[in-house]
Amino acid sequence: MVKTLFRTSAMLLLLSGSALAQTWSVDSDSSRLSYGTIKKNSVGEVNSFEKLSGSVSEDGKLQLTIDLGSVETNIDIRNERMRQIVFQSIGSADLTAQLDTAELNQLAVGATTVVDLEATLNLLGTEIPVETEVFVARISDSKVLATTNDMVFLGTEEAGVNAGVDQLKTLAKLNGITRTVPVTLRLVLTTDGNQAAAEPVAAPVQVAFAGDVKAGKKVFKKCKACHSVKEGQNKVGPSLHGVIGRQAAAVEGFKYSKVMASADVTWDTESLTEFLAKPKKFLPKNRMAFAGLKKPADIENLLAYLDSASK
Ligand code: HEC
Repeated sequence: MVKTLFRTSAMLLLLSGSALAQTWSVDSDSSRLSYGTIKKNSVGEVNSFEKLSGSVSEDGKLQLTIDLGSVETNIDIRNERMRQIVFQSIGSADLTAQLDTAELNQLAVGATTVVDLEATLNLLGTEIPVETEVFVARISDSKVLATTNDMVFLGTEEAGVNAGVDQLKTLAKLNGITRTVPVTLRLVLTTDGNQAAAEPVAAPVQVAFAGDVKAGKKVFKKCKACHSVKEGQNKVGPSLHGVIGRQAAAVEGFKYSKVMASADVTWDTESLTEFLAKPKKFLPKNRMAFAGLKKPADIENLLAYLDSASK
């Protein structure tokens, strides 16, 4: 944590505005491509592809591979028919686009933007141009979220899957399946920390919480019996709302132990990291009955959670 802070500010000094080139890869677990279908004029369903992979190269070439075999329609026999009949047992489809990486790299942590995307979808040998707006959010130095700003409509005719859909219709004895499907795409892109992410030129030093908020929320279960992150809600322990950055024992109306009340400590990432690892060692005779968190990663994630839960 402390290292991260240091690294962030040191990077600012080193870079002074130059955007470093870097590569990004698609985080398969958090990315998702969904499409909607309507059958019999009224029954709407959402299908998705569970496996996406790909990357954005240094010069901004997005290459996304959609595993057509991973189609999930929530009905096994239909998954099978989609794979064999509609997708003709072809393994994957590709989406390619040219991105403005300078813009991506300059986006400050926490900032969002909307960019135009002109992509090409290669499905079953047909090239389909796709134009859409993409909403981009910089989650951390090493993570970017990009989602379609609206739905994109794809015609089954131009996608070359019309014949397959016809056959599907007959097989499933349906009197109608729509020939235009709305599609949404969510991509989470990550970059490894070795290639320093470029900082925005004039941004103030970001207090970067490198930890994972979601993982930190899980760690917080260990604290929940005694602490809440809601403002003003004290339990056995004081509310931890906004704890990062404040003086120890600053919650009004909470009866702290003597040692805590007189501790000359500001809760920053450094002191919290030490305290949470071994509460009794950091501040002997304090009243928090908790042995400590053994894993540094747990503490890092927990701090990211406390920070985000206080906003
Ligand atoms: C068994 C109850 C209990 C558990 C579990 C517990 N705490 Fe505490 N915590 C307390 C009490 C009581 C205090 C006040 C200690 C004192 O006054 O000496 C405290 C104080 C603190 C403080 C100082 C707050 C301030 O206002 O100065 C922090 C920070 C803190 N706890 C974080 C945590 C975190 C994070 C966890 C989980 C990893 C945790 N605690 C787990 C009971 C608990």
